[in-house]
Formats: sequence, C-alpha cells, structure tokens
Amino acid sequence: MLLSSDHAALKAEADRLKTVSIASLLEQDPGRVDALSLSAAGLQLDASKQLVDDSALRTLASAASGADLQGKYSQLISGAQVNITEERAALHTLLRGTAAEALPELTEVVNNTLQRMSDATHAVHSGAHTGATGKPFTDVINIGIGGSDLGPRMVCRALDSATPNLHTHFISNVDPHDLDVVTRGLNPETTLLIVCSKTFTTEETLTNAQRAKQWLLSGGVPEARIGQHVFAVTTNLTAAAAFGISADACFPMWDWVGGRYSVWSAIGLVIALGYGWSAFTGLLAGANALDEHAREVDPLKNLPMLMALLELWNTRYLGVETHVVLPYSQRLEHLSDFLQQLTMESNGKRVTLTGEEITEATAPVLWGSAGTIGQHSYYQLLHQGTRSFSADIILPLISGRGDLTARRGLAAHALSQSRALMVGRSPEAARQIGQSRGFNEQECHQFEIPGNHSHSLILMDAVSPECLGGLIAAYEHKTYFLAVLLGINAFDQWGVELGKEIATEIQPLLETGATVSAIDPATRQAALAWHEANMT
Ligand code: F6P
Repeated sequence: MLLSSDHAALKAEADRLKTVSIASLLEQDPGRVDALSLSAAGLQLDASKQLVDDSALRTLASAASGADLQGKYSQLISGAQVNITEERAALHTLLRGTAAEALPELTEVVNNTLQRMSDATHAVHSGAHTGATGKPFTDVINIGIGGSDLGPRMVCRALDSATPNLHTHFISNVDPHDLDVVTRGLNPETTLLIVCSKTFTTEETLTNAQRAKQWLLSGGVPEARIGQHVFAVTTNLTAAAAFGISADACFPMWDWVGGRYSVWSAIGLVIALGYGWSAFTGLLAGANALDEHAREVDPLKNLPMLMALLELWNTRYLGVETHVVLPYSQRLEHLSDFLQQLTMESNGKRVTLTGEEITEATAPVLWGSAGTIGQHSYYQLLHQGTRSFSADIILPLISGRGDLTARRGLAAHALSQSRALMVGRSPEAARQIGQSRGFNEQECHQFEIPGNHSHSLILMDAVSPECLGGLIAAYEHKTYFLAVLLGINAFDQWGVELGKEIATEIQPLLETGATVSAIDPATRQAALAWHEANMT
C-alpha cells in the first residue's frame, strides 16, 4: 500500500503540474519520447503524452518501492494467498508457465489439462471426434458469462479469419434472445457446445446450457449421444456430471484462478477450436513474455507497473474520473468490455485489505469502443466536454492484411486523435476561426478545445496471438499493481455476489406472484408487474 509520505509527495507534484501543458513538456525535452517509451511482448507503450515530468515520475517510482510492487509481484506468481477474503491464490500466471519451477505439482495439473485440451482440439479438427450423426463439427458455441465469456469472446473476435477451423459463437445473456439469435442458422448436428462456468452454479449459464441442450435434441441429435456435442469447463465436476456431462468431456478449472483471469485455462478452449492449437499456445507465450518482463525491478522500465502508476496518478492525483480505451482495430472491438470486468470487478473496491474505508478514488470507470466509430459520437465530449478522463489509444501496426488505404486511414485517425487530445485548439486559433465567421470575442470560446488530456499510446506489433497475450497480461498486471498501491483485494467481487443472492430471492416472486415481506415495495411492485405480464 502507498506510504503516507509518498501520498503527500504525489499530491504536491500534482498541484505543481496541474497547470503545465503536456505539449510544452514534449517541446522542452527532446529525449522525452524515448525516456517514456517501453517495449515488451510485442507492445510499445509511449507515455510521453501523460501529464508527468521527471520529478513526478521519481515520486511515482518511490511510491512503487514503498508499496513493494516487485515483492508483491513475486508473491502473486509464487502462489501466495493474495485473495484473502476467499482464502485463495491467484495463479493465472502459472497457466502460461510463469514461475512453474516453484510450483511443480500445480504445473503438472496445468500441463495435463493443456494436453487434454490439445488432444480434444486435434480430435475435433481431424474429424476423429464428430457429432452424433457422424458429421464433422463446423461450429462451436461457448456458453458462459463474465470471465467465462468476455476473454475468449474478445480473443476470438481479434483472431477472426475467413477460414477458421470452426466458426465460434458466444451465448452469455440469460435473455433467450441471445441464444435464439446465435443458434439461428446453425445446424445442431455439426455444432459443439462448451459450457464454461467456474462454479457451475451461475444461473444465466445453466439456463442457457439447458436451452442449448434442448436445441440439440430438437435438431435431431439423439439423447443417448448428446455427450458428443457438449464439453464443460469447471471446478465443479459433480455439478457438471449432474447436468449430464461425462468426466472425459469435462476440463478442470481451479479455485486458484479468478474468473476474469481465466482466458489462459480451459476457458480458452473455444479459441483453440476456432483458430488452432498454435493460436492458443501463442497467446500463452505472449503472456509469459510479459510476465517475465514484469520482473523488471525499475518501476519506470516495467510496462505494467508504469501503467498502474499512471492510473494511480491520473485517478487519484489529477482527479480523472474515467479511463477510456480506444483500440484502432475492429478486431479489438470487444477489448473494452473485457477490460471493464478485469479492472472494475477487480479494483471497484472501497475498503482496504484491513477493512479501512478509502476516502479517495480507487479504480476509474473504464469504457471505450473501437476507433474510429467513437469519433463520430462521444469524442466530442472528450474534446470539449467538462468531464476529466485519461485514455489508452491502441494501434496495431499490422491489423490484418486488408485494404492498405483503409488501414492507413485508420492509423491516421489514431495518431491524429492522440495529438488532438494533447494540443487541442488554443484560444488564439479559436478566435481566428470564430472571427472569420463573424462571431464576437466571447462567442469565439465555442471553438476552443482545451486539450492537455493525459493519455498513452500503445502500439502492438500485430493483432497476433502473441501480442494479444502480452496485451491482456499487461492489463492484468496493471490491475494487480494498482490494487497493491491502493491496498485492496483485486481478486474478490462481493458486490457481484450480492446481486446473485437477491436474484435467487426474487425468482419465486416472479413465478408465483406471491408477496415476500423481505422485499421492498418498489421492487415487489415491479416484480408483480412482470408476473402479471408473463405468467397470467
Ligand atoms: O460476474 C461475477 C462472476 O462471479 C465473475 O467473477 C465470473 O467470471 C462470472 O461471474 C461467471 O462465473 P462462473 O464462471 O462461475 O459461471
């Protein structure tokens, strides 16, 4: 956790820098871009457009040492019980082979599972494992929610190709429309399901799995052979068996992997089925490369550590409320959805590990969408609105091999937005535009664009499995390092659990229309309205 002396020093640095222009910092220091650029695992982070200078960076580095970020990283990867409220380790790094030598028993379990995933993938691709009627699989549907959906969904979209091994689909929402739309046009005889649920108790996933099973049956898959069409990924093998999924179709997960950190486990099986085993291992290799880089002790040379320090700086000291992620690649259109769970479920906390209330900002609200689409909607607020924000602009250097002119246009937009966020439009330039249009001095303010928005530019070598692995791991570690700086637990989610509990209480009310005294009158009224509309 941040030392109070570092906290005070950072406050003073922020007060000093609040009126400084990022553009002037760049102008004054010809070495700034090099000094604030870091490379790792196919990523290049350029933090030179962040509102920091040498003195602020030194203070951030001191905060990193004071909070012992490097020591906490060693604890994380070696299996310390970092998730104290659930009494668990958070060993997602082991899934990509990091610090495997320190954990031989768990490594064996992980490797056995990888072997089973590889075997299953090859059996499906080779046609050794077919559907019940002997036809090879053409489609795979991943059924899961939260961490059992967002990671694989994001990666599959990123690796999209015209000729996948299998076409990948995702069903997440318990709204029946989700399943109905996804299964429309698919052939049950050639469709494989993967039911992904760490707990195998998640109501949305189990409802969808039950409906998907019915869809297979009504589509001609004989009940006795339906097992050929269903895999499961879970820690709860008993519940999966009760659902009718045989042990050899179940891939294990472990309670020492958090849902939102689980894309590297068998939760990623859909990636291998869709884009090949080498795509999945490439993802793991990229993440492992980033894990190794994260051992770097100098916080200002450690890419995820610098990202975390800058998030702390922007959110807590510069008063930034939201963080917007702007990937300039349609392939990365689901990235911000994935990062929302990763960062907001992890660090959306209000007390420390020892239960003390945190009175200052913790995690920013994270949002965003693929550039350039947002440019024609919410960027106006970014440029001229009153809300403070920080941003990551992500530009893959190679984003597929599609039309070069269009890709060049995309890159131009990414770089121009990065520059516009920094330079804005000065009062003088605004006055010239306004006066040329006949506006008076006061009215000319409408053409001003303040700029000076702290943000990073992240270049990716390509949207390859390796670079994606590195990118996801970078955000994972940024999230953990921020949690350490804030002194919070990044690996529990009691707020989410509350919603699940109350939903269980409300279900019978919707079904029977009975009045339950423990439910408040407003919720009861809405529940009865739904009951009237649907059950009578
Ligand atoms: O959304 C809350 C959550 O508990 C996530 O942490 C998790 O990724 C998701 O539900 C799904 O849980 P499960 O994989 O157990 O179905």
